[in-house]
Amino acid sequence: MNNHEPHKWHIDDPVTVIRTYASASTSASARTDGLNWIKELADEWKSPFLVVDSEVGRLWNHQLQSLFSTSSGLYLMDAAEELKNTFTLDQIWGSMAGAGVRRDTPVIVVGGGLTCDIGAMAASTYLRGLRLMLVPTTLLSMVDACLGGKTGVNLAGVKNQVGTFHPAEIIVISPEYLDTLPEREFRNGMAEALKTALIGDPGIKTIIQEVSEAEYSSDQILEMIERCLKVKGEIVSEDLLENDSRMLLNLGHTVGHVLESASEFRLSHGEAVGLGMIAEAAIAVRFGGNSNLPEEIKHLLEFCGLPTEIEGIPSSEVLARLLQHDKKSRRSGRIWALPFDWGDCRLTHMTTDQEEEILPQVLSFLRT
Ligand SMILES: NC(=O)c1ccc[n+]([C@@H]2O[C@H](COP(=O)([O-])OP(=O)(O)OC[C@H]3O[C@@H](n4cnc5c(N)ncnc54)[C@H](O)[C@@H]3O)[C@@H](O)[C@H]2O)c1
Repeated sequence: MNNHEPHKWHIDDPVTVIRTYASASTSASARTDGLNWIKELADEWKSPFLVVDSEVGRLWNHQLQSLFSTSSGLYLMDAAEELKNTFTLDQIWGSMAGAGVRRDTPVIVVGGGLTCDIGAMAASTYLRGLRLMLVPTTLLSMVDACLGGKTGVNLAGVKNQVGTFHPAEIIVISPEYLDTLPEREFRNGMAEALKTALIGDPGIKTIIQEVSEAEYSSDQILEMIERCLKVKGEIVSEDLLENDSRMLLNLGHTVGHVLESASEFRLSHGEAVGLGMIAEAAIAVRFGGNSNLPEEIKHLLEFCGLPTEIEGIPSSEVLARLLQHDKKSRRSGRIWALPFDWGDCRLTHMTTDQEEEILPQVLSFLRT
């Protein structure tokens, strides 16, 4: 594969086409070609309205200029969770109105998961829905957030409390953008890739090790991204609205969100999800899961440079309070996505009593 021949494939989702671009070299001149998607899609996506991560706009300005100059309007967005809210959404709508966006104006969003989520929400709601292209620029958004149609903003401190389902018509994967991604953000993406290996494609483990070990090639990272998107694509095409199997994608996130909030966001999302996967594998052992799995996950997280231990474990009271916000809560307890083995994750209901007994024990497994 070279820069001039994007690899196109459909997931089983009726709307989304994924176009991937790998560059043969990492030289500066090749990088310009790696962004060929702008030229290629220019005819079909005329005068788009753009929502762009301001950091990406700054770092990749030289390549994005041609897109900026042919757009009908541009909203540059600072990617901060405290700005992922209805106020910013209102500003994007205002900017769309100012730019004269019509029903046939397409929207292109360039940025990480945060920008994709809010930009897609603006596209899904303005004039009751506009065509959408997503260009994810972080590893996390490439392996996970770009696919599946979830859009959203935070409300009153609760993440993604308001949102819609609006799958992108085209997703452009260009791993070139990862060249400028900070290391910690890269590791966040590796945690989600590991999650996907656990859920549906154990072979991704090997690529994770290769990518973590040495300088990886564009083709290696692309293979990892494509395999992750394939697993997610199969799940969301079965259950777009998350009534059932899509809940499997929350693996690591139930404990992860609790640890992330309890740390007052000192733990990054990927770090917390990694720890969450260890704890949830330890819970699965109680229900008959593979007893080696928690250690195996630990080992792979260490490989990726992600933490496997924490200093302070939240008290039972804090745990119970934070778990209340979990979207998988039911009248009695919660549905947990538990990893029983590689490629064998199961939705398991735990009662509140079971949670109170098991959770503090498995979390103590994470203490330094
Ligand atoms: N819709 C979904 O299915 C889904 C799934 C997972 C996560 N999410 C959402 O995704 C968000 C997290 O996304 P994220 O991890 O991609 O982080 P992010 O979008 O918050 O970006 C992280 C940081 O990286 C910077 N950045 C982005 N691309 C860069 C690049 N190429 N070079 C240098 N810097 C770059 C951003 O400016 C920001 O500072 C959360 O809000 C989460 O709720 C959504």
